Amino acid sequence: MDLRVTNTPALEWTGDALAVGLFEEQLALPGDLATLDEKLFGTMQELIAEAEFKAKEGSSLATRVGGGSSIRKIILVGLGKTDTVTLEGLRRAAAAAAKAAKKERCKTLGISLPVWQGDVAATTQAIAEGVELALHQDVRFKSEEDTGIKPETVELLGCGGQAAAIVRARQICSGVILARELVAAPANIVTPVTLAETALAIANEYGLDIEILEREDCEKLGMGAFLGVAQASDLPPKFIHLTYRPTTAPRRKLAIIGKGLTFDSGGLNIKPTGSGIEMMKTDMGGAGATLGAAKAIAQLQPDVEVHFISAATENMISGHAMHPGDILTASNGKTIEINNTDAEGRLTLADALVFADQLGVEAIVDLATLTGACVVALGDDIAGLWSPDEELASELMVASDRAGEKLWQMPMEEKYFEGLKSVVADMKNTGPRPGGAITAALFLKQFVKDTRWAHLDVAGPVWADKENSYNSVGATGFGVRTLVSWVLS
Ligand code: BES
Ligand code: MN
Ligand code: ZN
Repeated sequence: MDLRVTNTPALEWTGDALAVGLFEEQLALPGDLATLDEKLFGTMQELIAEAEFKAKEGSSLATRVGGGSSIRKIILVGLGKTDTVTLEGLRRAAAAAAKAAKKERCKTLGISLPVWQGDVAATTQAIAEGVELALHQDVRFKSEEDTGIKPETVELLGCGGQAAAIVRARQICSGVILARELVAAPANIVTPVTLAETALAIANEYGLDIEILEREDCEKLGMGAFLGVAQASDLPPKFIHLTYRPTTAPRRKLAIIGKGLTFDSGGLNIKPTGSGIEMMKTDMGGAGATLGAAKAIAQLQPDVEVHFISAATENMISGHAMHPGDILTASNGKTIEINNTDAEGRLTLADALVFADQLGVEAIVDLATLTGACVVALGDDIAGLWSPDEELASELMVASDRAGEKLWQMPMEEKYFEGLKSVVADMKNTGPRPGGAITAALFLKQFVKDTRWAHLDVAGPVWADKENSYNSVGATGFGVRTLVSWVLS
């Protein structure tokens, strides 16, 4: 798809479909909109009246313009109330325009939306992201080609001179799409080995440093928690460490860690039928977002050093599997009694956190599909955020807001660590059911000594069961845009 900017006014634009954003206050079509409607033989006004279009946010409506018009179809996109317009609202409006154009079988699309707070660059970027993500379709595992007509050329009206914002949007979306494709691929396609290969491919393509620690290397580092999880799999674990270094002295150094369970059977505490075991290919959603962010950041080239880390493995069952009750020793020397083999993500993250803590970075953020409890608390659209560092927490809140991904800060309630007390070891890996996402965060905290750190539980939003604006049903690529926005901030 060709995505371009132009200063051609809506009145002069020609092509298959013109999408025009409308606020609830503009249903009478004031000013330029009236002139445009005149040119379109009153089609817009007719459409508004006939369909009782109210311009609610996220709504859209399309119709044919007859009489040899230079625009074949007109698409009205609702923007809600004037005073509530946000960058995310524009991203969603652009997605609605792109999807309507696809449904109407239009090859060329012009999009005319208002500018958010006078910031044409941010507006252009958000609109481009909405279009790009809405039109992404994952047909890798379908045997038949999609023959449907969809937009091939999309022009963003009123965004002239903002070509750089389009480039930025496309770089970010390439990372989101990589994350989506990694998460959507089943566990017989995306394995610890292929995740490492993907990291290597990113390193080679963009000139990043890469280090893949094999099982023996992890043994030498004493990563007993990670290796305990890995020990029942027939596939070798891979500890992935990708590093982006700017060409000049870095303004700051950061680390991003993603949980990389390419399949989580639960281990000997096996996940029963009905618990969503068949969705546990998505348990590398954190790693997917981490590699997606690496791909985007490698192209954006900020003056920030970023380490991308994932302790990748499967949680399987065999005669080698860890037994419930086993005691593992993590690379910081802490001992863990495994009272539930299904609380495996935190074990892999423990050694990854110890590793990141020793890199001398300013801050660490981990992303993990860590607990069902977080999904119960916040639902499918919102990730939980935990951090002992309020400043880092608010940096992430701001970044996610700009990116249009939802985070909600959760309490680091130290008292609940009592639930992880073990008779025989330093801690258990699983606490009681109530507050399960909080005890998981408190467990992780035991493995960070010196560095500012935040944890994102993304178990809900990495996958969408329902189509929602620019997210189709399936993997969403959640986290990539927030991470990029945070690194650039
Ligand atoms: N990968 C799961 C968490 C998960 C659940 C992600 C549902 C996405 C959807 C994690 O490894 C897990 O099994 N967590 C357990 C923890 C429990 C044993 C303390 C859970 O949430 O049930
Ligand atoms: Mn599990
Ligand atoms: Zn898991």
